[in-house]
Amino acid sequence: MEEKELYDRLSREAVRAAEFSYSPYSHFRVGAALLAGNGKIYTGCNVENASYPVGICAERTALCKAVSEGERRFRALAVTGGREGRGMAAPCGMCRQALREFCGPDFIILLVEDVNKYEIRTLGQLLPDSFGPENFGSTGADIR
Ligand code: THU
Repeated sequence: MEEKELYDRLSREAVRAAEFSYSPYSHFRVGAALLAGNGKIYTGCNVENASYPVGICAERTALCKAVSEGERRFRALAVTGGREGRGMAAPCGMCRQALREFCGPDFIILLVEDVNKYEIRTLGQLLPDSFGPENFGSTGADIR
């Protein structure tokens, strides 16, 4: 699949994932779609909790779904969020760091405003001079 087609599809999946957002406290609906190395797409939404800090972001929901099914290589992530379930939400700092565990500086992050409408960033741009598994002398995604 051509790159633009792939990114468009990811934007669509992120917007769709936001529909499942459980956000009765913030009413901020976030959706994410994570493209794994094998071409599979894992989606996620934010899942809030009456005990606020227990809630989890859409990006980490998608990442944990993928990793817990054996995926460790990723190509791109699309994220969208807002009161209407779309709007250009950039990943929070915690999610950037979570992605950093498995993804390098060239990993693509799409800030999705709506289906087929997004800005393209890299993880290196959003999280420069980062701390990662290499600091432990390992290659990260290869840790077994
Ligand atoms: N949220 C995400 O899901 N991803 C982000 O990167 C930013 C914030 C969620 C957390 C919370 O449920 C709501 O958006 C408001 O912060």
